[in-house]
Amino acid sequence: MSAEREPIGVIGVGWVGLVTAACFAELGHEVWARDIVAEKVESLSRGEVPIHEPGLAELVMENAERLHFTTDMTEALKHARLLFVCVDTPPTYSGDADLSRVEAVLGELGDSTDHALVMKSTVPVGTGRSIQRRRPGTGYVSNPEFLQEGSALKDFMNPDRVVVGADESSQPFAERVAALYAPLDAPVVKTDVASAEMVKLASNAFLATKISFINEIANVSEDLGADVSEVARGMGLDDRIGPKFLQAGIGYGGSCFPKDVQALKQLAGNTGYHFQLLTAVIEVNELQKRRTIGKLQKHLGPLVGKEVALLGLAFKPNTDDIREATSLVLSGRLQGEGANVRVYDPVAGQRVEGLLGGARICASALEAVDGADAVVLVTEWPEFGELDWAGEVKRRMREPLVVDGRNFLDRDALIQAGFTYEGIGR
Ligand code: UGA
Repeated sequence: MSAEREPIGVIGVGWVGLVTAACFAELGHEVWARDIVAEKVESLSRGEVPIHEPGLAELVMENAERLHFTTDMTEALKHARLLFVCVDTPPTYSGDADLSRVEAVLGELGDSTDHALVMKSTVPVGTGRSIQRRRPGTGYVSNPEFLQEGSALKDFMNPDRVVVGADESSQPFAERVAALYAPLDAPVVKTDVASAEMVKLASNAFLATKISFINEIANVSEDLGADVSEVARGMGLDDRIGPKFLQAGIGYGGSCFPKDVQALKQLAGNTGYHFQLLTAVIEVNELQKRRTIGKLQKHLGPLVGKEVALLGLAFKPNTDDIREATSLVLSGRLQGEGANVRVYDPVAGQRVEGLLGGARICASALEAVDGADAVVLVTEWPEFGELDWAGEVKRRMREPLVVDGRNFLDRDALIQAGFTYEGIGR
């Protein structure tokens, strides 16, 4: 067996676990992917992928021979020594990460030190050290993921960097983990466990900071007559700044940024340090989600009885994920103001059943805009750019008012067609 062909255990087959399992299988490894949810394991074994991630279903199909889905932990333990832990670490009410699923995995390992844990789940800095203290002799490697939903396969196969954190006693395992990524030809950051854990949280917190920063520049630009898209273009060409994550909008969402920024702030707080910058990043993001209401009121007056269409529910395009999505906050606030809300999303529609109060879930964008006093573009799904705004959409709307929450639509064309257009920072 060459160093690159290593049987792999993946514990927890959610989005991260399934992408990890499928990509390692694609790289030629036998993968035992274990999840406690029997229905999920059964459907994956039949080749049905319950997650909307471009290319993932195909990759699972193509590598079916090397992908073994199971509910049985002993099966994974029997075949693989490296166990990639990919279980959820959702936030608790206090904002700290809930590590109960990681603990459950540790419980299942018992006293055995035959296996090395490779932590992909996002955990608080210090988690690795605490696990190693409790389990002397068990190999432990921190190997955080930097996958973006919607482009996860590309991100896995072409990473900017691979981070492998291990302490002295686990170096042999760290080498084996690094070897798995060797075909990807990416820089490997070999470091200690705590630093690897911090790289993950700090990277997400920095990206969220970039977004809140550009959102504040957008808000100020609105009053000062600048166009944030032009400002971002001018800033982004500076190598030291870079063009990415300078897209102003109605706030970041998803299962990662809100959770990880909060978690890092809490971690700092636990040491007695008040992380002022992250406190502001979170606050700006919360306010950003709500600014749309003011923009609607500016044109419609009180929103009682007004018909408002939200286009897009997912926290970003190419995913059906609605966790911490701005659409949920907006829908609630609008209904709180007395508006009637209708929503449409190409893939996330069913996910919001029961979550949006009295909002009407529509089967198409045209159904959603029919008779609406305003349209709010929440998620920049390509199909919204292709709608016949000047014709069909305008004819169906009661008032031609558009709030483009992602600066995604053709502003000049809309204005020319007679729409009242509100973007973000322009
Ligand atoms: C994020 C990170 O980008 C990944 O590197 C990381 O691995 C992942 O979290 C994680 O921790 O698992 P993801 O949550 O999939 O990935 O989404 P992003 O593409 O980063 O977008 C997050 C939010 O920021 C979205 O709501 C998006 O609309 C918003 N955003 C992004 C902006 O408002 N402006 C931008 O310029 C970029």
